[in-house]
Amino acid sequence: MTSSPPLPQHERDSESVAGHWLLARVGKKVLRPGGRELSEWLVHASTVTGKRVVEFAPGLGLTASLLLDESPSSYTGVDSDPEAVEVTRSAIGGGGAMVVASARETGLESASADVVVGEAMLTMQGDSTKRQIVVEAARLLDSDGRYLVHELCLVPDDLDDSIKTEIRKDLARSIRVNARPLTVSEWSELFETAGFEVEATELRPMALLQPRRMLADEGVVGLARIVRNLLRDADARKRVLAMRKTFTTHDEHINAVGFVLRKR
Ligand SMILES: C[S@@+](CC[C@H](N)C(=O)[O-])C[C@H]1O[C@@H](n2cnc3c(N)ncnc32)[C@H](O)[C@@H]1O
Repeated sequence: MTSSPPLPQHERDSESVAGHWLLARVGKKVLRPGGRELSEWLVHASTVTGKRVVEFAPGLGLTASLLLDESPSSYTGVDSDPEAVEVTRSAIGGGGAMVVASARETGLESASADVVVGEAMLTMQGDSTKRQIVVEAARLLDSDGRYLVHELCLVPDDLDDSIKTEIRKDLARSIRVNARPLTVSEWSELFETAGFEVEATELRPMALLQPRRMLADEGVVGLARIVRNLLRDADARKRVLAMRKTFTTHDEHINAVGFVLRKR
């Protein structure tokens, strides 16, 4: 019998583990803010078939599988967490190559990709690392390549700085990750200064922990497994409810966003 590789941060207790790995531990497979639906929108917003694809931070390998379903000419996943790399490797079998590296400096060849994908990984970086990762995506892409991004964003564009700060603090406190979402115009500026043109933008509610989205993302059996695991683990339940409260408290100002970016 083959056993699954351990999840990242498996040695940490439910109080200190990063929110996305806590959710994975209780059985959640979809860890990105706009859910499976926004990932599917992204994958179909640009041609993947026959293209060389690099994915930053594949996590549990869900989008890796969506991408491989489109028959790219190659798939390379890059995650800084060796355990995440093992989880994705096991999810995709022999369907692609996996590299343990930071997306800031992947070690891959310049102009070696037609499509770069990154979901739920830029928001958690500070300003200078966000920039380095976007510049690395531009370096990896061949001319006319596409960078597909799925992240958290703040709305509206002119949101008061004091509300931005409060949201960032609440996210950091409940997720235990220094999450710094940007407004759509701040994200666009970051991409444009690194040499991208914004081709399409798609907003979705941030409904990661809402029952209807969880049912759509995880299915009946998956949702039942998550509920059962949470009923059995009081510490995990407390953390998940605190994360959910942060998302619902700020739901007027937090969205998921997908960007299709063309390398100029
Ligand atoms: C919230 S999870 C998202 C995983 C997956 N993209 C998804 O949407 O389900 C964040 C992932 O980013 C990875 N990560 C964080 N910083 C990274 C970096 N600088 N380079 C590569 N991967 C990174 C983590 O190891 C983790 O797999």
